[in-house]
Amino acid sequence: MESHLIFTAIAFLVSAFIFLLSRKSNSKKLNLPPGPPGPPVVGNLFQVARSGKPFFQYVRELIPKYGPILTLNMGTRTMIIISSADLAHEALIEKGQIFASRPRENPTRTIFSCDKFTVNAALYGPVWRSLRRNMVQNMLNAARIREFRHARESAMDKLVDRLRAEAAANDGVVWVLKNARFAVFCILLAMCFGVEMDEEMIEKVDQMMKTVLIVLDPRMDDFLPLLSPFFSKQRNRVQEVRKKQIETLVPLIEKRRKAIQNPGSDKNAASFSYLDTLFDLKIEGRKSSPSDPEIVTLCSEFLNGGTDTTATAIEWAAARMIENPKIQSKLYEEIRMSVGEKRVDEKDVEKMPYLNAVVKELLRKHPPTYFSLTHAVTEPAKLGGYDIPTDANVEFFLPGISDDPNVWSDPEKFDPDRFFTGREEADITGVTQVKMMPFGVGRRICPGLSMATVHVNLMLARMVQEFEWSGYPDNGKVDLSEKLEFTVVMKNSLRAKINPRG
Ligand code: HEM
Repeated sequence: MESHLIFTAIAFLVSAFIFLLSRKSNSKKLNLPPGPPGPPVVGNLFQVARSGKPFFQYVRELIPKYGPILTLNMGTRTMIIISSADLAHEALIEKGQIFASRPRENPTRTIFSCDKFTVNAALYGPVWRSLRRNMVQNMLNAARIREFRHARESAMDKLVDRLRAEAAANDGVVWVLKNARFAVFCILLAMCFGVEMDEEMIEKVDQMMKTVLIVLDPRMDDFLPLLSPFFSKQRNRVQEVRKKQIETLVPLIEKRRKAIQNPGSDKNAASFSYLDTLFDLKIEGRKSSPSDPEIVTLCSEFLNGGTDTTATAIEWAAARMIENPKIQSKLYEEIRMSVGEKRVDEKDVEKMPYLNAVVKELLRKHPPTYFSLTHAVTEPAKLGGYDIPTDANVEFFLPGISDDPNVWSDPEKFDPDRFFTGREEADITGVTQVKMMPFGVGRRICPGLSMATVHVNLMLARMVQEFEWSGYPDNGKVDLSEKLEFTVVMKNSLRAKINPRG
């Protein structure tokens, strides 16, 4: 708090000066979307920081006042926030090519993305096309996803074993998010590095990834670079964490390189991995293939993109089942009717309409990230009649769309039957229409959509088949408060009581 006051004081001192300097350049009047007023230079930055609310809550409260497209001035960054299906459609589908880029990065992100050398951070252009094509065609197409069936089976077995052991040691009580996270991380690690790792190694890589996510959290000086002298300690920390990330992952890269060069030398090596696609990857407009630090960055993206997002969906799934036991019994009934006593697998889950409806309703009511990744326009553009300048951060507030009473009946209600009975429909790929977009839509749509859907369906089905889930400490009562931790997870991390089914 005290440091905020110091920053405010300094910022105000300098602000008058910069304001005078910048008046001239601001004078080319843009018709920006409306938004709360704020002082020059710092704009709404300190209002947001001091509100004591998570950013998504702050935004949610602004929407009734300013409407489905609004502006926040965050220091040197202009943020334009879109929260309606129509405007999302206009931007990402009708004007998809213009809205398909990413904004300039802050210095921390520049380090971790190797200067935008990732699918998610690359500007709309040749580097993005090369990296995305490689990820989609070589790793995330339907045939390749099927090839990694064993990695998923093995991770699901590990999950069930861990849950059983944790329950046995804790009067039947387990943590949900932590275990789901571990399971999906195992799958992605196997796909990424082509090796099955022991639990110790998995925990080590996982810890390192978490540290990276923490240092990537936005800081004040990202919005007001004039404050950067006060953040030298944090900058040093960023360098240390990047070094640690490289030290942790380069040995895994080396190991795989050797296994490929000497086929048969490593008996545990898988026949294929994401790494294999990166070693000699041709990038449009570049002569060299990716360096080791770049490969570290690309692998981290693969692991990060699908871990917390998927685990978050599972935590909310368990919460909703506990809150409404009928949902759980209908799920269990469907599994029993479809597979009998056999262990449910990923082919089975495709043919389970109720399970699929539950997962869709989960992604509608609890999109794991409340904002899609930040977009930017490739040229000055118009949206909803307003100007969108090229240096603006364009954000899509996803619950604004999937909770909109003009689009959904009873949007507040968690009701899988809306999809199961066919009463309502939604195309999550955004091809036919936009009513919910938990994976984004358009050119930057999440390339992991199909795989993530398999992971959520399969994990939920196995969890329900193996155990009966109930609330802890109070059965039936679940606190659905949210908090932002990269994804939007439960404020009080969910603990559940589980009973192995006979
Ligand atoms: C339930 C799980 C997941 C959710 C909810 C999710 C959600 C999203 C969202 C909202 C975006 C931003 C789209 C935009 O910019 O408009 C995105 C992008 C991305 N996701 Fe996912 N994702 C999930 C799983 C995965 C998985 C499993 C992977 C890969 C292993 C992955 C890799 C990516 C990548 C690389 C991008 C950047 C795409 C680009 O900029 O072209 N995601 N995801």
